[in-house]
Amino acid sequence: MSLWRRTLEMSIGILKILERLLRSIRLSLQQRLASRYLYKPRPDDIFLVTFPKSGTTLMQMMLYQLTTRGEMDFPHINSISPWYEFLFEHPDLAAVESSPSPRFFKSHLPYEQLPRNARLIYVARDVRDVAVSSYHHQRIVMGMGGELEPFLDAFLADRVGFGSWFQHMELWWPHRNDPNVLFLRYEEIIADLAGTVRKVARFCGIPLDEADLPRIVERCGFEFMKRHNAKFDPRMRRAERGQFIRKGEAGEGRSVFTPEQNRRLAERMEKLARKLGCVETEELDPLLRPRLDCEG
Ligand code: A3P
Repeated sequence: MSLWRRTLEMSIGILKILERLLRSIRLSLQQRLASRYLYKPRPDDIFLVTFPKSGTTLMQMMLYQLTTRGEMDFPHINSISPWYEFLFEHPDLAAVESSPSPRFFKSHLPYEQLPRNARLIYVARDVRDVAVSSYHHQRIVMGMGGELEPFLDAFLADRVGFGSWFQHMELWWPHRNDPNVLFLRYEEIIADLAGTVRKVARFCGIPLDEADLPRIVERCGFEFMKRHNAKFDPRMRRAERGQFIRKGEAGEGRSVFTPEQNRRLAERMEKLARKLGCVETEELDPLLRPRLDCEG
């Protein structure tokens, strides 16, 4: 390779790092300014918090169904459940101000960056399924190509656009039993939608008429949401190469990743479990989730 080409490649590499750095500075500034100047708190505001691809949209839909008659005549779910850290980019801030209580914001922020004493619903999902879902999101929604193996490398090295699943969990795990936090798991939500609706209603102090439950459960179901994919797809336009509401299953990662890839994920998960002070009650379990189940 010529010197000229090597210099060029190095310069491009440096520019890419600078671009990422500037982007993250812009985002963090934007978030701080939004929370300080644009967000006017109400005591019954609800924050739906996740690491991306863990069931955020499903929870937005659940809160929408719980607090309204559930008509599907909204333009996009983010118009009724704004993304907290992107309030600056919200097309109609006056609507956020005037929308009826309780309002429910989505967010991917760590606990410390969310308003003090706000009601927080955190959804965790099996890391392997998050990784697979993120991989497809990158391809389908962001139009980026690439194979699964290099994506997993980046995921394990905390270098994917969404940030680090492991750091997110590390920061949220200690708050899972806080009185203002409802800590849920995607796997349990989809296995028992009715039970989750009741739990969420109780936690948020939203009256639930049992007669509404079948409608809420049906509309939070995968089939219904997939039929209305355009209302949830963050592209705000028709899907080109697949749908945002994609598969909606628990356990896909286990079968998609090779044993070696699963081992690497398990190893990283073990490290996190140890850092969190979880007691190891079982043998090294490739299913990873038990690492999150043990008491810290
Ligand atoms: P998959 O890509 O595994 O299918 P988020 O909203 O945080 O981006 O999460 C998106 C994931 O939640 C996607 O997972 C999507 O299909 C799934 N999902 C969305 N609505 C769902 C529903 N009603 N039931 C089950 N899964 C759902």
